[in-house]
Amino acid sequence: MSTVDVSHDVFRQLPVLTGDRVRLEPLAPSHLDGMMRMLSDPEARRLTGTHRTFDEDEVRDHLAALPLRGDRAHWAITDDGAFLGEAVLHELDPPNASVQFRICLVGPEVFGRGYGTEATRAVVDYAFDVAGLHRVGLEVFDFNVRAQRSYEKCGFVREGVHRGALWWNGIWHDVIAMGIIASDPRPA
Ligand SMILES: CC(C)(COP(=O)(O)OP(=O)(O)OC[C@H]1O[C@@H](n2cnc3c(N)ncnc32)[C@H](O)[C@@H]1OP(=O)(O)O)[C@@H](O)C(=O)NCCC(=O)NCCS
Repeated sequence: MSTVDVSHDVFRQLPVLTGDRVRLEPLAPSHLDGMMRMLSDPEARRLTGTHRTFDEDEVRDHLAALPLRGDRAHWAITDDGAFLGEAVLHELDPPNASVQFRICLVGPEVFGRGYGTEATRAVVDYAFDVAGLHRVGLEVFDFNVRAQRSYEKCGFVREGVHRGALWWNGIWHDVIAMGIIASDPRPA
């Protein structure tokens, strides 16, 4: 039997990632204010299907515990020191060298300016070229066309649909599964 040999704590020494404008730094307690803004923004909550609310102590504890979590990678997306959002690799599956991706910018004031695509490209490059993973998957809501377009620009391919998987504002929505594997093209 062959193995792909990805460690269960492959994200323990998380590097800073950079794009043309963005700098992705390991998410830390210093990002608490930005995280609270993001988690309470109505549009960010709608686009991520966030039903629950978060209190500050809970988020502070979460941020403090992240360095101990080598099985997940959380970055703060920043530009010139300003907090723009969060990018995450989670649900690591070491035997299959597979992980899930999610991203959220802090609010509509920074959507549509290319930050998300730049950050996603940096994380995908890290996942394959540094962490040695084989697959990155994600889920996106049918109504979130901006995110779908951004993911496609990074090389993610639509793989399937979970029908009626999100209940939001009195309507069932489909959830689209997308993924990219190491041998897929990564458009510049
Ligand atoms: C999704 C997200 C990370 C994308 O990042 P972004 O910086 O806003 O997106 P970008 O500017 O990099 O790219 C958006 C692309 O979608 C396109 N787009 C935007 N709205 C669109 C629409 N209604 N229909 C089609 N394309 C659309 C833009 O034109 C752009 O493509 P282009 O460069 O080819 O013109 C960001 O918007 C975000 O965090 N949103 C809130 C949370 C969220 O949706 N997270 C993802 C959950 S799966």
